Amino acid sequence: MFAAAALATLAFGAIQVAAHGGVLSYSINGQTYQGFKSYNTPVGQTSIQREWDTYNPLTDPTDPSLACNSNGASLGSGQLSATVPAGSKVIAYWNQWPHTIGPVMVYMANCNGACTSATPSSLEWFKIDEAGLISGDLPTGTWGQGELVANNNSWTSTIPASLAPGEYFIRHELLAIHTSNQPQFYPECAQLVITGSGSAQPSGSYLVKFPGAYSMSDPGVNIDVYAESGVTNYTIPGPAVWQG
Ligand SMILES: *[C@@H]1O[C@H](CO)[C@@H](O)[C@H](O)[C@H]1NC(C)=O
Ligand SMILES: *[C@@H]1O[C@H](CO)[C@@H](O)[C@H](O)[C@H]1NC(C)=O
Repeated sequence: MFAAAALATLAFGAIQVAAHGGVLSYSINGQTYQGFKSYNTPVGQTSIQREWDTYNPLTDPTDPSLACNSNGASLGSGQLSATVPAGSKVIAYWNQWPHTIGPVMVYMANCNGACTSATPSSLEWFKIDEAGLISGDLPTGTWGQGELVANNNSWTSTIPASLAPGEYFIRHELLAIHTSNQPQFYPECAQLVITGSGSAQPSGSYLVKFPGAYSMSDPGVNIDVYAESGVTNYTIPGPAVWQG
């Protein structure tokens, strides 16, 4: 009895893990950066990524951990940053991503100093990349997340070449909307030191806080795609993309 129950619990846990996930590594200018290993203690881990504890989604657009997932902590002496020139391409790699309905969004935030001591929820974030409904209708069309899955569970974004140098977070977020009126947010953050001679910074209309940027009254957040057969528009939540 006990063994059977334990096995069932294990199997259920495995399915839960398999059905969710996050960014496991990055590739920038040919260099691979391993992400934080969730489900493991942060003690002894070294990564450019902030801590995130499980593959489970955040399900409330006002969750206090929406900026960099739960718990988003700095790894202290193990916390690294990748030094990369503005204009670089950043490839993020997820686990075997199971969801193909929903947008992909990529944000950055200026830490105004050392990112290692920054609190993600107090920063001002700007969007550098997004992909929502690419073709077709809401329930059966091709979404950003479908492209991510088709592309080896990866997403490539370009850091605006004009961005002023400094320490920044990059935040990759998948918003899975395959469950009716129950959004699932999957954000992960990594630390970058941007170099170059740019001087551009996004103005106020591009800047948002997490939580703060999204709400359950956003048409792209609280949505039942299966009730919108034939509808071919989707409003990606958050601010407009800052082009640099
Ligand atoms: C596919 O993704 C893995 C990381 O998940 C990476 O190591 C591998 O190089 C990628 N393959 C290609 C062809 O890009
Ligand atoms: C599609 O467009 C209509 C009309 O502008 C709007 O009311 C609706 O919220 C949009 N749907 C989505 C999912 O963004």
